[in-house]
Amino acid sequence: MKTKTQFVCQECGYESSQWLGKCPECGNWNTLKEFKTQSAKKTSGRDAMSRVSPDITPKKLQEIISTEKTRIKSGFSEMDNVFGGGIVLGSVTLLAGDPGIGKSTLLLQMCMHIAKENKVLYVSGEESVEQIKMRASRISVDIQNDNLLLITLSDTDAIAELIADVKPRLVIIDSIQTMESENLEGMSGAVGQIRYATSTFTRTAKALHIPIILVGHVTKEGMVAGPMVLSHMVDTVLFLEGEKFTATRILRSLKNRFGPIDEVGIFVMQGEGMTEIKNPEQIFLTENTKNTPGSVCVVVMEGTRPFLIEIQALVVYSKLPMPRRVAGGIDHRRLELLLAVLQKHCRLPVETMDVFVNIAGGVKVEDRAADLGVCLAIYSSLKNVSLPKTAGIAEVGLLGELRKVPSLDKRVREAVKLGFTNIISAAEKHSLSEVLKGLEKG
Ligand code: TYD
Ligand code: MG
Repeated sequence: MKTKTQFVCQECGYESSQWLGKCPECGNWNTLKEFKTQSAKKTSGRDAMSRVSPDITPKKLQEIISTEKTRIKSGFSEMDNVFGGGIVLGSVTLLAGDPGIGKSTLLLQMCMHIAKENKVLYVSGEESVEQIKMRASRISVDIQNDNLLLITLSDTDAIAELIADVKPRLVIIDSIQTMESENLEGMSGAVGQIRYATSTFTRTAKALHIPIILVGHVTKEGMVAGPMVLSHMVDTVLFLEGEKFTATRILRSLKNRFGPIDEVGIFVMQGEGMTEIKNPEQIFLTENTKNTPGSVCVVVMEGTRPFLIEIQALVVYSKLPMPRRVAGGIDHRRLELLLAVLQKHCRLPVETMDVFVNIAGGVKVEDRAADLGVCLAIYSSLKNVSLPKTAGIAEVGLLGELRKVPSLDKRVREAVKLGFTNIISAAEKHSLSEVLKGLEKG
């Protein structure tokens, strides 16, 4: 058998016949690893796909039965929303997230719900079935269930066969990183195996109309190992995020062939599993800080939904020649920029101050509409005036001007609904200095 040497990027799966320091596909350095590939061992090994080979007769449009109507409900309305109304039959979903964030827990809960009526197959390459049972009994006291089938297995081809045998309503693969196949000997190692497993499961899902959810761990670079390869091989990419030490978890869709992207579902991780928060508007607000200087609310959009989030600032005299700027939950450079605007256009003496800004609840905000709120919180702490029931909704430009943000009406309505009376936006104020002058008088 002929062997040849290939270099494969461990981040994105780019292949090259020579070593390169920087991957031309994803731009990462030192990610190309050498592999000795043997020309594909087609005949040896089990041919898992023989049983699920696709139907090759073309069909007329009207002959095709729409699977749209038969979406599987997950038991969490938040999660169904993120999926675009439930899980589409035959779809492949990647659920990605940091290790320990709650992916297995969320999926197991979903399986236990679906298994009330349909057969579900949960394949774990990481945990023994006993461990999964322990988790199940933590989630629910009632774990009598004939429809939930668990197995510890990491052989891609065996799993594909098993799916064809069992024909469950839904399959979970936890996790895609643990899957291995002997059908591609040379190209073992992260990317090759992951790619092979994903394509095998994708074909299985399409041929048998069984939805498959793949769990993917995120590496420290913030990507699922072999991320780009994976994300265009699957139909839907969901991310489960949250800080390890806070209980809030956000399920986000980054790609969805069957629904809107940018939808979010909010969950709380508790002792007995994940609980969905159906009215999450207020969860990022702390009740008791409303009249304390340094706290202002902003309304950010997550997908099509407005959320009120509290921004806290602490501004104190600095003893350092280079005062400290510490940002939690917002971009550090954005904070520097807003401070420069406050200094230049509003004449606030922030250059001599240490400034700390944090978003309550451990969430990350990228929405520019939070700019005004950040500035107001800094002002409030610096001047030691409280700004009760105040919400700021505007982007701040380099010239200190306020800019309108998308979905302003929706955001304002949300703030009004939650009892905010002083809502400041670009609709009535033109510049940041105008806003701050108004506060001085008022
Ligand atoms: P897990 O679902 O195993 O995370 P992942 O699959 O994303 O790696 O969850 C791991 C953490 O969640 C673990 O530290 C324990 C905690 N946990 C709870 O807080 N409540 C629960 O009901 C369960 C099952 C786990
Ligand atoms: Mg897990």
